[in-house]
Amino acid sequence: MTLWHGRLGSGTAAEVMAFTASLSVDRRLAADDLAGSRAHVRGLGRGGLLTAEEVSTLLAALDRVEHELETGSFVFAEGDEDIHTAVERRVTEIAGDVGAKLHTGRSRNDQVATDLRLYVRRSVAAVVSGILEVEEVLRTRAVEVGDAYLPGYTHLQRAQPVLLAHHLLAHGWALARDVDRLLATATRADVSALGAGALAGSSLALDPVGTAEDLGFAAAFDNSLDAVSDRDFVAEVLFDLALLGVHLSRLGEEIVLWSTEEFGFAVLEDAYATGSSMLPQKKNPDVAELARGKTGRLVGNLTALLVTLKGLPLSYNRDLQEDKEPLFDSVEQTTLALAAMAGLLRTVHFDVATMQEAADGPTSAAVDLAEWLVERGMPFRQAHAVVGGLVRDSLERHVPLVELVDAHPDLGPDAVALLEPGTAVTRRTTPGGAGPVPVAAQLERFARRLERDRARAGTPAG
Ligand code: ARG
Repeated sequence: MTLWHGRLGSGTAAEVMAFTASLSVDRRLAADDLAGSRAHVRGLGRGGLLTAEEVSTLLAALDRVEHELETGSFVFAEGDEDIHTAVERRVTEIAGDVGAKLHTGRSRNDQVATDLRLYVRRSVAAVVSGILEVEEVLRTRAVEVGDAYLPGYTHLQRAQPVLLAHHLLAHGWALARDVDRLLATATRADVSALGAGALAGSSLALDPVGTAEDLGFAAAFDNSLDAVSDRDFVAEVLFDLALLGVHLSRLGEEIVLWSTEEFGFAVLEDAYATGSSMLPQKKNPDVAELARGKTGRLVGNLTALLVTLKGLPLSYNRDLQEDKEPLFDSVEQTTLALAAMAGLLRTVHFDVATMQEAADGPTSAAVDLAEWLVERGMPFRQAHAVVGGLVRDSLERHVPLVELVDAHPDLGPDAVALLEPGTAVTRRTTPGGAGPVPVAAQLERFARRLERDRARAGTPAG
């Protein structure tokens, strides 16, 4: 029997059920649905719509449903279209006539919107703690690698040496912004939709403010039409996770590059690498590749929801049921990616000697030579041309740059010192720069930011 058997005489066609049912997806909302139902029942009690006895009967039935769901003994019925229908059906089986009062003043429209906001609250907290863990790993590795340096790149061409710690923290700051975004999203999502009914509120004495408080929301909805049809908060989470995925994909791409024989900057720990089914010698960076690859899905999930929402008239439309699959998928995939990447980064071995050798290439201090001339009064554009000419000369005539610098009237032996291995990176002294002095300050700022974000997220240091 359907929930609407009073109005529609015949049962639902099997193919309609197959097409419209969402139970396989939204059963993930079971805990949220139970929480929402409990708050609703208590609200009905406060409004005099249920006696105290009815309230406790329904709460006991909900406890039993919870137990059945948790232990796997809950038996879903053929007509259970979604988790809300399934829970209500079972409560009615357990509590009899009183069960039929559970849905008083409520619609699945305000129910599902509320459930989804509860889900967002707990899943954002879980993703944030996963991000903070990756940040902590990056911070620890940055401390541990000390003054090790590698080439910094632009256009994937060697540009200037940078501290490895600086490079690792660059990814860390991007992740810190992801945390910021997710926490802001969670704040905006912190509104209860319960009590909005199907779309217009109710003639019954519901208590939206009281149920919002009961569920720990910061506020109740202001507009019932908006409450049942707003999915901004889902779109925001999907954007935040898509961008997080983009950040993880950039980090993943560098791990892929660094672990090639061509770069040789990193060697993956066996537990975080994979082999080839055919080629015995292979050690592949599949974790990093999937961190990159899954991002396509995350971006797709955001796009899917935005397209679903575009042009939808107020208020609830069944199209909105399509909000959940992308959301659950993005949450689940980013959670898995964060855990795997944290492990990979915690264990990856950096080949500092290879990195430094690459960074000590003859031209890596080219800008330092130009800046040395600037300090001695030469206009920068002219200095740039002088050093550029020497580099070209060195390449064309196969003469080491150091000899040309030594022989140049404006440069000479003092300037040659700039070409000493490891010197260039120490000259990046400006705030936020890539050398040891500003990086030490940056590490402290990053640690403080991490601590603050942990406190904001309620995640203790671990
Ligand atoms: N499974 C539905 C969803 O996720 C629940 C709401 C159904 N509401 C309705 N009016 N048919 O959106």
